Amino acid sequence: MKKWFAVIGNPIAHSLSPYMHDAWLQEQNINASYIPIHVKEGKLKDAIEGLKLLGCSGWNVTVPYKEAIIPFLDRLDESAAKIGAVNTVVKTDEGEFVGYNTDGLGFIRSLGETDHSNNILMLGAGGAARGIIFAFKQLGYKNLSVANRTLENAKKLVDELQFGQAITYLEAEEQLQSFDVVVQTTPLGMKSNSKELPIQLKGIKEYTIVADIVYNPLVTPFLEEAEKYNVRTINGLGMLVHQGALAFSYWNGSYPNTDNMIQRLTEQLGG
Ligand code: ATR
Repeated sequence: MKKWFAVIGNPIAHSLSPYMHDAWLQEQNINASYIPIHVKEGKLKDAIEGLKLLGCSGWNVTVPYKEAIIPFLDRLDESAAKIGAVNTVVKTDEGEFVGYNTDGLGFIRSLGETDHSNNILMLGAGGAARGIIFAFKQLGYKNLSVANRTLENAKKLVDELQFGQAITYLEAEEQLQSFDVVVQTTPLGMKSNSKELPIQLKGIKEYTIVADIVYNPLVTPFLEEAEKYNVRTINGLGMLVHQGALAFSYWNGSYPNTDNMIQRLTEQLGG
């Protein structure tokens, strides 16, 4: 029987995942398809029953269901359990539905070469930051600071994850010279938002990696500012593609071509 995969969310029409997974399935000659499913408010339970009943082999979960889906799964892997959010569901050979979270690891893969001793600065302490911080911890990174508008929220996050230290945006600006990687995770810079930046980058070290998890626009105001300095900027497409590649590998047992996909999506988004 032909396998099929899906992505569920609300809204879902603009998801790039169907394009990405269909291309990879074709490239690897896998007889399967991947479809977007719009799950309306209050319909998550029905949707999951439907997916199970109709033989879906696995699906991605996007906003706003990454947390709400948990009670409908048989179990979670360590990262999904610790992060409290699922972006990938895998149906095992035994028919169990297992939740994973590939966002954080996907993001770190998108950075390319980094070192465990690198000093990381996270900007923002929401759900996206949580997944990434946990992945840094899991991979054995040692030095990480979380700067946030509301210091209390950063403190709570580092306490819960038992990793890193909480600082203010002002402290982050003062310590900017000491960071090797700066990660922007707040919604600032998404299309409808203003040109406001979480921190100023004056004094940033040469060759620092500056990453934004937002990919629409491809160059956020934060990355635009970073490009004025001699640093390496990374947009959010890398995270999108690498989280998808990890999901693809859990479902199909093989790893797809990520560089090629980043290039194709960049062209599609007009970069
Ligand atoms: P996600 O869960 O996807 O990360 P989110 O929960 O909306 O998204 O992200 C919230 C993060 O963005 C928080 O760190 C939030 O800061 P507070 O804890 O102070 O609320 C940060 N954030 C949201 N809007 C912001 C803004 N206008 N300026 C600075 N930080 C902002």
